[in-house]
Amino acid sequence: MIRVFLTLLTTLILVFSAASYAHKDAPGIVKERMDLFKKSQQDIKALYASIRSDELEDIRTNAVALAQWGVVMPDYFPEGSGGGVSEASAEIWKDFDGFKDAAKTFELAALSVVAAVDQGDKEAIISAAKSVGDSCKSCHRKFRN
Ligand code: HEC
Repeated sequence: MIRVFLTLLTTLILVFSAASYAHKDAPGIVKERMDLFKKSQQDIKALYASIRSDELEDIRTNAVALAQWGVVMPDYFPEGSGGGVSEASAEIWKDFDGFKDAAKTFELAALSVVAAVDQGDKEAIISAAKSVGDSCKSCHRKFRN
């Protein structure tokens, strides 16, 4: 169990270390998505905290919030909204289907946490939560500069 949490922690550090800049000057939709990504960062931290403290209802709430963000995320990337302070890779608009797939993978990973909560399966919750962190990283690797 401790080993699993260490893995989770490593995942978290990898996800967050490259991620946080303040972009107060970003325009419109770019600022909105940055704020939503920051919120998702809080949500995934809260998800891991609620797993540590065994709060099933909180685990579910945080996972649902992440899944909902996954559903709408592509809408926050209209064509031409890259460049400037944005770290969005041009790859997003070259391969928008691939980007949508990555958002879907993230959504499904978050929903798999909800399913594991419903089964009351702690091991499954932990591995599902890890797959959420992996889906953040894997999209960043491909679609964020
Ligand atoms: C489908 C792709 C995708 C997924 C999934 C994804 N991200 Fe991102 N993320 C991006 C892109 C693209 C940007 C750059 C946005 C920009 O700068 O315009 C970004 C930016 C961020 C930022 C920086 C926001 C800022 O203020 O500039 C944070 C923090 C972040 N993501 C955290 C996360 C976390 C945590 C997860 C998982 C819970 C996650 N992301 C999942 C694509 C994704």
